[in-house]
Amino acid sequence: VSPFRKDEPLSRRMRHTLLAGLAAFGFGLGMAQALAQDEVEAVAQGEAVEETAAEDHGTVHYPLKKPEMMDWSFAGVFGTYDRGQLQRGFQVYREVCASCHGLKYVAFRTLADADGPGFTAAQVAALAAEYQIADGPNTDGDMFERPGRPSDRFPSPFPNDQAAAVANGGAVPPDLSLIAKARSAPRGPLNTVLDFFTQYQEAGPDYIHALLTGYEEEPPHGIVVPDGVYYNPYFLGGPALAMPPPLSDGVVTYADGSPETIDQYSKDVSAFLMWSAEPHLMARKRLGFSVIVFLLVFATLMYLTKRRVWAAVAH
Ligand code: HEC
Repeated sequence: VSPFRKDEPLSRRMRHTLLAGLAAFGFGLGMAQALAQDEVEAVAQGEAVEETAAEDHGTVHYPLKKPEMMDWSFAGVFGTYDRGQLQRGFQVYREVCASCHGLKYVAFRTLADADGPGFTAAQVAALAAEYQIADGPNTDGDMFERPGRPSDRFPSPFPNDQAAAVANGGAVPPDLSLIAKARSAPRGPLNTVLDFFTQYQEAGPDYIHALLTGYEEEPPHGIVVPDGVYYNPYFLGGPALAMPPPLSDGVVTYADGSPETIDQYSKDVSAFLMWSAEPHLMARKRLGFSVIVFLLVFATLMYLTKRRVWAAVAH
């Protein structure tokens, strides 16, 4: 006899209450998100943008505009990185972004990955040797600098955050190694569910691309942009950020004849930063596909086995 038997009606009631509570909580959460989303959309359409220091209508949600969904080669179940694009993106990082942003989790040797930019070992060694890496201490107890090796990681442009802030009007340029995974604009409750089925995982590069191409000379009426920051309606943290527009048409010369435009540079560097944040994306997608195929075959076999085992039992 179960010792819990006499409690059963109570526990069942508790279970129902709990379920009802959970349902109400979920509903409330959904509503709250939907409301927040409406506000973001209203703001995106420029309705609630009218906000001055004197006349504050309440909270404005950022970003003011949503990133456009780009057509990435690495999207979807069979997505793969475009090697040429990663190489161009790396060139943009090196020639433009690297003066302010580090890439401290990326080792030079990974630039030779077959699923990545795919540079040759010789190219990577030559590239690494162009950097000076702090090493030591030597036998005298002193730190010293030596040319980089493929096993080293990218040195950061500033010795510490304080130095970075002083050089950038008080804002620290974040390390970009993982930025494509660390940033994404909110997608709203409906998309959050749909994204699961469509396997949308490119919110990070979509955001970076939108940010780099989204600077506007003149902020809309009512938005006051202080000196030293730049209006950008795609920025997650506010109406303006401390990064001056880093790109302009023609600043990087491509060897493969791709267009030398802000839009192309932004796409390429966003793709490169997606790779730096997720270097094993292609292996993950390959394995994921094989696992699903395996599970389908396995499930079929199990079903047939079950029929065989129970065939003799009347039902
Ligand atoms: C002159 C220095 C400078 C250059 C060059 C520069 N950035 Fe920045 N970047 C900054 C600063 C400073 C911030 C921090 C802005 C803030 O928080 O207000 C920043 C922030 C960012 C952010 C984070 C935005 C967020 O949501 O927090 C990204 C992404 C970014 N930069 C990408 C790039 C890329 C890609 C390039 C090259 C095409 C680049 N930056 C070139 C200074 C720079």
